[in-house]
Amino acid sequence: MTLLTHSRLSARFGLTTPIALAPMALASGGALAGACARAGALGLVGGGYGDLAWTQREYTLALQAANTGRIGCGFITWKLDEDASALDWLLDLPAAQRPRAVMLSFGDPRPYAGRIAASGAALICQVQCMAQVPQAIEAGAAVIVAQGAEAGGHGLNALNGRATLTFVPELADWLAVHAPETLLLAAGGIADGRTLAAALVLGADGALVGSRLWATQESLAPQGAKELAVQTGGDGTARSAVFDILRRKSWPLPYDFRAIRNPLHRQWEDRIDALRADPEAARAVYDAAVAAGDFDAAHATVGEAVGLIHDLPGAGDLLGQIVAQARARLTRA
Ligand SMILES: Cc1cc2nc3c(=O)[nH]c(=O)nc-3n(C[C@H](O)[C@H](O)[C@H](O)COP(=O)(O)O)c2cc1C
Repeated sequence: MTLLTHSRLSARFGLTTPIALAPMALASGGALAGACARAGALGLVGGGYGDLAWTQREYTLALQAANTGRIGCGFITWKLDEDASALDWLLDLPAAQRPRAVMLSFGDPRPYAGRIAASGAALICQVQCMAQVPQAIEAGAAVIVAQGAEAGGHGLNALNGRATLTFVPELADWLAVHAPETLLLAAGGIADGRTLAAALVLGADGALVGSRLWATQESLAPQGAKELAVQTGGDGTARSAVFDILRRKSWPLPYDFRAIRNPLHRQWEDRIDALRADPEAARAVYDAAVAAGDFDAAHATVGEAVGLIHDLPGAGDLLGQIVAQARARLTRA
């Protein structure tokens, strides 16, 4: 019980539930971040690849929808290295509108850390393996997110990725010795009260939830993708470079992407080099499918937690259910 009600995360950000909405590119818009914040969680808008107009619109909507200070924004760090105008816009807002937290993932956070700290925002760094942790500490991260390879979207590939179950306690032990003030969130597979309770028992201060909150009314994910997720079990996702090649995204190694393993993915997953060498015909199929909302070929971005997703509720109700179930589990334990 006390793990839930006295989380350091809740105390640090004024939350009533130790959950942060993952800043999912194009899915965690203002309505979803606002709904999470109203429900007592930290609402991180999905600034993703740093589209300035999208970030301006959705972050402004989040502030309006939340009507609390529990709003932040996340970015893909290697993309900021090309264009940081969306981060600049955010940090230059009047003090009352500035983000409570900025989350950086997939790259070196240190070039941005000084400006984020000067704005008053807490820096959250998402890492995928122990080797990335010292860099996040050097950047002054207030919160580190340990992302297991179960997660939906981008993460470390099969050669390098970690599982949430072992990564979180190993990192909790490391932080206890080297950076005891730094908070820890678990990410990857946290989708109900059982998995939230497990994350807290493993030593996390809370959870960063992506896939489960992607499958809600407020998420900006396409309705057809959400409906496919409800029908898909946990065996039905895969991690590879297929969709990044099809989407013309040049992600640096060793990152790749977990999504539903649909027929177009299966067609190419054993021939990644051939797809990379000559992608245009497959891209035409993919582009047409995206335009038509055909998720046999278009990607639907969820992680292994998809096997725990059976409905598309409102985010506030969902968070209430997750916390109630976690409380019941922890009390019984
Ligand atoms: C649809 C989707 C989009 C995502 N986009 C981003 C992103 O833009 N930036 C980021 O740091 N993480 C992104 N992630 C990863 C999340 O931050 C988080 O690590 C992951 O969702 C946690 O695992 P879960 O999906 O099992 O909850 C995304 C995840 C999903 C499902």
